[in-house]
Amino acid sequence: MTAVHTDPEAVPGFDAFEPVHRADPYPAFRRAREASAACSLRLGDVPVTVFTRYEECATILSSPQWGHGYRAGISPFRDPGARIPGSFVRMDPPEHGRFRSLVNKAFTPRTVASLVPVVERVVESLLDAALDRGEVDVIADLAVPLALTMIGGRVLGVPAPDRPALRGWELAIARGTDPDELLPPDAVAARSLAARDCAAYFAGLVAQRRAEPADDLLSALVLVEEHGDRLTEPELVGICMLLLVAGMETSINLIGNGVLALLRHPDQLALLRARPGLMASALEEMLRYDLPTQFTIRVALSDTEVGGRRFARGDGVIVVMASAGRDGAVYPDPDRFDITRFDGPTPARRHLGFSLGVHYCLGAPLARIEASAAIGALLRRAPDLALASGELSYLPSLIHRGLVRLPART
Ligand code: HEM
Repeated sequence: MTAVHTDPEAVPGFDAFEPVHRADPYPAFRRAREASAACSLRLGDVPVTVFTRYEECATILSSPQWGHGYRAGISPFRDPGARIPGSFVRMDPPEHGRFRSLVNKAFTPRTVASLVPVVERVVESLLDAALDRGEVDVIADLAVPLALTMIGGRVLGVPAPDRPALRGWELAIARGTDPDELLPPDAVAARSLAARDCAAYFAGLVAQRRAEPADDLLSALVLVEEHGDRLTEPELVGICMLLLVAGMETSINLIGNGVLALLRHPDQLALLRARPGLMASALEEMLRYDLPTQFTIRVALSDTEVGGRRFARGDGVIVVMASAGRDGAVYPDPDRFDITRFDGPTPARRHLGFSLGVHYCLGAPLARIEASAAIGALLRRAPDLALASGELSYLPSLIHRGLVRLPART
């Protein structure tokens, strides 16, 4: 991680991206929040300001003065993903709005709600297979196959025999979503290869669905039309790749990080077992407490000011949503995992786990459905669920926070 140089002149102490903090970055985030509203970093030769407090993070995510600036040619970040047609997570309005609204037409609340019984069936059959063994790896036995079936199968329409390849591509591309300046060369190379193969695969699948629509969201996307506007083949391929990367790793890690938080807090686990109606609040707390998508980037689209600092058009920032979730100014006793925090008539303020503003996560309802079904069924069917002994290790990623394995005794 030699590309990260903290700038002691600007604000000392932001070292949360160093690998030493991977198992638990939250103390380092706390030091950064307490030190100042913002810290400075250099990513390679790019100076970047890092925001770790809730107020500034929320302001930037929801403000039209902040975006990505690739089309305008002002982004200081290197991000080849931003050049993929259709990959609207790195686009600014009005271009972004065109894609978002076309994709929304296929991804309706009704379509997503219709997936509930499917998710429940998939979860039950995965647990049937896993629970007999007396030990379950929550990642490999539950979270990964669930995401592959739902995002890979039901959303993207990838046939079951092709899904293992999908997992390989997804991991390499997801790893490559960290800023390029923080990636080792082998991760950059693996990402390029995976992106090329994955794009070729989806080009074939899009052509198939155009010829013969099936019961999946990709078929709906192929047909979607608004005021005579339709998605082109390259745009459809880019959207498939975006949905794959944005939807798989994140939903796997919500289940993994969420179950781990419960296993480490037996009182909260017992409370959720006793009051399953708290699941909705528990999920929000999992997203506040240990976030699958730790941070995102933004660029000032015009000269502006945040947290007492001035920014010129084209300046880059990192918004650490995972740190905002632990901000004591917004969440009392922020390091306590409390599944009732988002329950009742005065729930805690919304977490930033799904972002805010125009890029607010398109898949949030599906992610909630998947995690709630998976965690709910696991608790019901494994009444003695407990963490198995052994070290836990995390994926070598900064943006995505997720466990490699989560072995638990049942
Ligand atoms: C717990 C699971 C998930 C988390 C934590 C999560 C998080 C996020 C975040 C933080 C963003 C905004 C990034 C930014 O502002 O720069 C985002 C955007 C997005 N997410 Fe998710 N996501 C999850 C699940 C999903 C799923 C299941 C899908 C799709 C099936 C999905 C599709 C998307 C898409 C397409 C965007 C881009 C939206 C836009 O730019 O308009 N996400 N997600």
